[in-house]
Amino acid sequence: VIGNWKMNGCLERNASLLAELRSMSCADRVDVVVCPPFPFISQAKDVLSGSAVSVGAQNLSSFKDGAYTGEVSGSMLLDLGCSWVIVGHSERRSVFGETDHVVATKVALALELGLKPILCVGETLAQREAGEAEAVVQAQLDGVLAVVGAALASDIVVAYEPVWAIGTGRTATPDQAEVMHAFIRAHLERSGVAAQKVKILYGGSVTAANASLLFVKPDIDGALVGGASLVAESFSLICAAAAAI
Ligand code: PGA
Repeated sequence: VIGNWKMNGCLERNASLLAELRSMSCADRVDVVVCPPFPFISQAKDVLSGSAVSVGAQNLSSFKDGAYTGEVSGSMLLDLGCSWVIVGHSERRSVFGETDHVVATKVALALELGLKPILCVGETLAQREAGEAEAVVQAQLDGVLAVVGAALASDIVVAYEPVWAIGTGRTATPDQAEVMHAFIRAHLERSGVAAQKVKILYGGSVTAANASLLFVKPDIDGALVGGASLVAESFSLICAAAAAI
C-alpha cells in the first residue's frame, strides 16, 4: 500500500501524520510506503526510522546528474534513504508532458540504481468510452518494456490508475479494475516477464470503505492511495484491509 501525498503537507502536519503511521500495527504484514514531496523525504525518513514503513519519492529526473536546474536525481533519492519511486503518474504525463519515452528512461534509471519503480498506467475517460482502455495501457507498458527488457521488468511495480478515477471519488468497480489487472498480468506474461512476481496496484479514489472490495480480487495486489493517504486513520485502515487479506 503506497501513499502518494502529491504536492501536500508542511513540516508540522507531516510530523503528526508520520507519527501515527509509525505506530501502525499491520506494517509488518504489508509493504507500506509513503511518498512525500522531495523536501519532506528526510523528515519522513527520520520519523519513520526503525518502523516497517518505507519512504519513496513521487518522481525522479530522467538524467543522472549535471546541469539540469530544478531536477532531482535518482541517486539523490537513494542517498536520502528512499527505496521506491513513482514514475509516470498521470499528472506527470498530462500536466508536465512526460512521454512514454521519458517514463521508460526514468524506469530504466531507477532500476539501474536499485530504486523500485512504481510505474503508473491508465486510460482517460474518453479512451475508455471509445473502447481503447486496454490498447492504451498496453502501449504504456510496451514503451517501458522496449527500453527495460523483460528480464528486469519483473522488478517493476505496476499501478493501474484510470485517469477518470483519480481524485474524483469515482472508483473503478472492483470488477472493472480486476479485468484490467488480469489483462496487464497476461500482457506482461506474453511479453516474457515473470508476471506472477509483479505486484499490480490499483489507484484512483481508494478509501477505507472500498479497499477490501478491491483487495479480494486475485490480480489486485495493493493500492496507490492519494487523498486518503493524507489522513492517518484512513491510510491505516486501508493498510489494515490489505493485511487482513
Ligand atoms: P486519489 O489519487 O487516491 O486521490 O484518487 C490516487 C493517485 O493519483 O495516485
